[in-house]
Amino acid sequence: MNNFRLNMPTEIFFGKDQIEILGKRLVKDNVKSVLLVYGKGSIKRSGLYDRIISQLAENSIKVTELPGIDPNPRITSVAKGAELCRENDVDFIVAAGAGSVIDCSKAIAAARYHNGDPWDFFIRKASVKKALPICAILTLAATGSEMNGGCVLTNEKTQEKLPMGSIRLKPRFSILDPAYTFSVPKEQTAAGIADIASHVFEQYFSYPDAALQDHMSEAVLKTLIENAPIVLKEPENYEARANIMWAGTVALNDLLELGKEGDWATHMIEHELSAKYDITHGVGLAILTPNWMRHVLDADNCYKFAAYGRNVWNTTETDDMSAALQAIEKTADFLKSLGLPQKLSEIGIDDSKFEEMAESALKNTRVGTFKPLSKEDIVKIYRKSL
Ligand code: NZQ
Ligand code: ZN
Repeated sequence: MNNFRLNMPTEIFFGKDQIEILGKRLVKDNVKSVLLVYGKGSIKRSGLYDRIISQLAENSIKVTELPGIDPNPRITSVAKGAELCRENDVDFIVAAGAGSVIDCSKAIAAARYHNGDPWDFFIRKASVKKALPICAILTLAATGSEMNGGCVLTNEKTQEKLPMGSIRLKPRFSILDPAYTFSVPKEQTAAGIADIASHVFEQYFSYPDAALQDHMSEAVLKTLIENAPIVLKEPENYEARANIMWAGTVALNDLLELGKEGDWATHMIEHELSAKYDITHGVGLAILTPNWMRHVLDADNCYKFAAYGRNVWNTTETDDMSAALQAIEKTADFLKSLGLPQKLSEIGIDDSKFEEMAESALKNTRVGTFKPLSKEDIVKIYRKSL
């Protein structure tokens, strides 16, 4: 295991009606003026918006609103949010929604103190020196953004989608009430589960091995496999929603990657698809993941896929390569069982931009650590996914 440093400053309030702590928790931090960031209306339909507003009013906290954040959030919303923060002396950001809202809020928190284009953070022209504190009120289990320091934004002009991160962007606290995920539509629930599974794979299939982290990864995957069919059939099953929600947070809050060097290739090549075609992140991952697995599997790494097969899927094959192949097919079957598309052609994507997207993925950094991918490798994975 490599050396590591762990810093988890985010306080988590998990469970039914935890929203009730919002006002008091903000007062504890002496908050006077918040920017409330949300999406295109789900928080109004669920009643969450009214509960947030009344908590803020009861505690005499000024509210400025930034509604309408898009899935695959845009850098233009970040510039707008930063301006609102300056104009209204905002001292705290409340992000109420799913990953896109939280990511956009993190970028705003950093952009508030940056005198240039917020995109500078994403092209490594600037680093986050100071940021407004934020809290996340999560409404969809998927990204883990509620407890990590990362965010992914889209630049609609350049058609790029890039990540950036800083410990300064980890939420100060997050409220996770599984009941607020009851209203997530079936396809979005499934896409969230595929995203969570992918986060685990990106860290599990990486070097060096780390026994505890890898077994924890297996536990997160088993939790997803057990609970996914339940939430898809019974969207208001609290216990199953709670298990998926917490799995989503643990899957990307640093714990599973400690002492390891995560792969993240599937994510990087998926971000290209989201940037060019504005598709749902988890849908892109569900299509690419089994094909990434099939492409990278070799005699040296098959022991890892075999361990995954035996510990997660109870495969009984004694030969590692056979167990690995079976594990990959089990993964594909699981993603299929979620009802998600399995081919790019099903979501209207052809091969016309494969070369361009592969080049773009490799533009700023290497792609993959478990098995570094060349441009040709990436194009092959896209082709297998057609
Ligand atoms: O806009 P509203 O009306 O809120 O509707 C949203 C949106 O249409 C809807 N939704 C959310 N909660 C709901 C709900 N609908 C009904 N009931 C609810 N309770 O769901 C739709 C999708 O929202 P979005 O925020 O895009 O979903 P998700 O959480 O999957 O976030 C995806 C974004 O996060 C990035 C992705 O690239 C993508 O841009 N990621 C962020 C990461 C991070 N910060 O660590 C890591 C991830 O790998 C990922 O890249
Ligand atoms: Zn993801």
